[in-house]
Amino acid sequence: MGETDVKETRRRIAAHLVGRERELELALAAVAAGRDLVLEGPPGTSKTTMLKAITEEWGIPLFFVEGNADLSPAKLVGHHNPARVLREDYSADNFVAGPLVEAMREGGFLYIEEFNRAPEDTLNTLLTAMADRAVEVPRVGLVEAQPTFRVIASMNPFDNVGTTRLSTSVSDRLNRIVIGYQDAESERGIVALRTGLIGPLADRIIPDAVAVTRATREHPDVRQGSSVRGAIDCALVAHELFELRDLVEPSDTDYQATLFDAMLVSLSGRIHVDEAAETSPERVLREIWEDHFILEPARAEPG
Ligand SMILES: Nc1ncnc2c1ncn2[C@@H]1O[C@H](COP(=O)(O)OP(=O)(O)O)[C@@H](O)[C@H]1O
Ligand SMILES: [Mg+2]
Repeated sequence: MGETDVKETRRRIAAHLVGRERELELALAAVAAGRDLVLEGPPGTSKTTMLKAITEEWGIPLFFVEGNADLSPAKLVGHHNPARVLREDYSADNFVAGPLVEAMREGGFLYIEEFNRAPEDTLNTLLTAMADRAVEVPRVGLVEAQPTFRVIASMNPFDNVGTTRLSTSVSDRLNRIVIGYQDAESERGIVALRTGLIGPLADRIIPDAVAVTRATREHPDVRQGSSVRGAIDCALVAHELFELRDLVEPSDTDYQATLFDAMLVSLSGRIHVDEAAETSPERVLREIWEDHFILEPARAEPG
C-alpha cells in the first residue's frame, strides 16, 4: 500500500466519521502494514464503522463472524456438503467454504466479534492462518491467502460471560488498539448524523438523550451502561412520542415525562445492573432522569 494511498484513504474515511481521527489512523497503519489486529472496546465505539469504511474504501470484502462457544474450527474453515459427499465422495468441488477460507481466497478482512468467546481450538486454527497466511483443508488442499487478507478481532473489556483469556501465543500475534467511549460532543454529533433529526425539538432531545445515556455508564449500580446506540434510539423514540402525543411545543413537564418514557424503551434493556446491587434498570433510569432534569436542571436546559 503506497503512502499517499493510505493518506488519501484516511482523508476520505474521516469525512464520514465523527471524530476518531487517532483510532482511524492507528487502525489504518496496522492494516496497511499487513498486520492483524484486535480492537478492544465496549460495544458502540465505532469498531464496525471503521472497518466497514476501510474495506469499502479499498474495495475488499468484509466477513463477519460472531465469536461464541459454538464457533468451531469447522464453522470457520468450512465443510463438505454431506448429501453430495454421500453421492460423489469427498471432493474440492463439494466443499462449502467458511468465512476464514472465503476471506483468505478473496483477500478480505475476517472480522471476529467477541473474539475471546471462541473456543481454544478455533483460536488455534486462526493462529495457523495468521502465521502461515495459508490453511491446509483436508481433501481440498492448501488454501493460500490473498495479500489483503487480515484477521481483525474485537473484544469487549467488560465481557465476563464465557470468555477465554487469550493465550500468549494468540496475543503475541495480534496488534491491539484500545477504544473507549467518545466525548459528549462527538456523541451528539453521531446521534444527529444517524437520526437525521433537526429543528428546535431535536436540539433539545439530542443533548438530553446523550446526557442520560452517558450517565448510565457512570451509575454506581451499573456494571455496563449503554453505548451511543441507546442515545440514537432514545432520540428517535422520543421524537415519535412527541408526534403521537401531539406535543409540538411541549411544556417542561410533558417534555420530561416523554423523555423518561423514551429512556425506558431505549435504555432499560441496554444497561446491565450489578447483581450485588438490589435495584432494577427502571430504578436506575429514574434516578438518572431525576438527577438530570430535577436536581441539575441547568444541564438540561435547551441550547
Ligand atoms: N465515529 C462515529 N461516527 C459516526 N457514526 C458512528 C461513530 N461511531 C459509532 N457510530 C454509529 O454508532 C453505532 C454503533 O457503532 P459501531 O461502529 O457499530 O460500534 P461497534 O462495532 O464498536 O459496536 C452505528 O450506528 C454507527 O453508525
Ligand atoms: Mg460492531
